[in-house]
Amino acid sequence: MTGQTRAPLGNDTRGDDSLQHSAPAHVGTLPGTTTVVGPGEPSGLAGAGRTGAAAVGATPAIAVQGLAKHVTDTTGRLAILDAVDFTVAKGETVAITGSSGSGKSTLLGLLAGLDVPSAGRVELAGNDLYALSEDDRARLRARHVGFVFQSFQLLPHLTAWENVMLPLELAGLPAHDPAREMLERVGLGERLRHYPKTLSGGEQQRVSLARAFVVQPDLLFADEPTGSLDSATGEAVINLMFDLHRENGTTLLMVTHDLKLAQRCGRQLVIAGGRLVRDSAVEAV
Ligand SMILES: Nc1ncnc2c1ncn2[C@@H]1O[C@H](COP(=O)(O)OP(=O)(O)OP(=O)(O)O)[C@@H](O)[C@H]1O
Ligand SMILES: [Mg+2]
Repeated sequence: MTGQTRAPLGNDTRGDDSLQHSAPAHVGTLPGTTTVVGPGEPSGLAGAGRTGAAAVGATPAIAVQGLAKHVTDTTGRLAILDAVDFTVAKGETVAITGSSGSGKSTLLGLLAGLDVPSAGRVELAGNDLYALSEDDRARLRARHVGFVFQSFQLLPHLTAWENVMLPLELAGLPAHDPAREMLERVGLGERLRHYPKTLSGGEQQRVSLARAFVVQPDLLFADEPTGSLDSATGEAVINLMFDLHRENGTTLLMVTHDLKLAQRCGRQLVIAGGRLVRDSAVEAV
């Protein structure tokens, strides 16, 4: 990794993480909190792979309550997502699956603060995402959230290198060498100065992954991260995501149709018709 340091996601946008770091690994210190998640939790899922006290803070990485997204078009009111509730503990790895059009990308966008819900709440480590101003939400995202889009969303007038430098620059972090190192890590060391249109779909996907990984986010959201990759490259990218999870305790939420990837996750959420219809542990393979 790049060796850079910055504050983990705390209870506000100022990066004040003292509460989480001072908490002993086995004790929940937040007032009114009775549940402590971690390696000793019965499901064995929460906090898997985490090291250190920050792994087992009582505040969930993500808490979703009554989340809904409705749109109105010429055919009337369409419920894209409805009454979605779940929490994800810090350091969990979660696969979101479901058929095409079921609402997975919409859900991921709402969790990452990229869209606005019609109803409900999303908290990221205690931050009520949609109670924040747009600027504060963007700041929170820039420092703590990585997002891999289904459609890559690279900036066409920037090179691969510049695309990966961008989130570091926005977060006020050194950008030049960490961006190059991350592109090397996804196998694109020879493509640093290529513009997106001169890269293959799979290469663009890897630039998009490098851009999401490079800030070492506390939360990584990925929408079909292996969708455009051959199986060997897909495997390498999956390994990279799980390395990030192991090294930094990153919480992973991934939309995927890839069974291999889903099986690497500790938990699976199934979406059907905009509703969460299953929430279950996955047997590791
Ligand atoms: N802005 C919008 N206006 C109208 N309908 C929308 C809008 N955004 C999404 N939808 C519809 O909501 C449904 C869910 O879309 P979404 O992109 O979340 O599906 P998905 O589960 O990610 O599908 P896929 O696996 O094909 O990527 C789809 O039927 C889509 O057409
Ligand atoms: Mg989608």
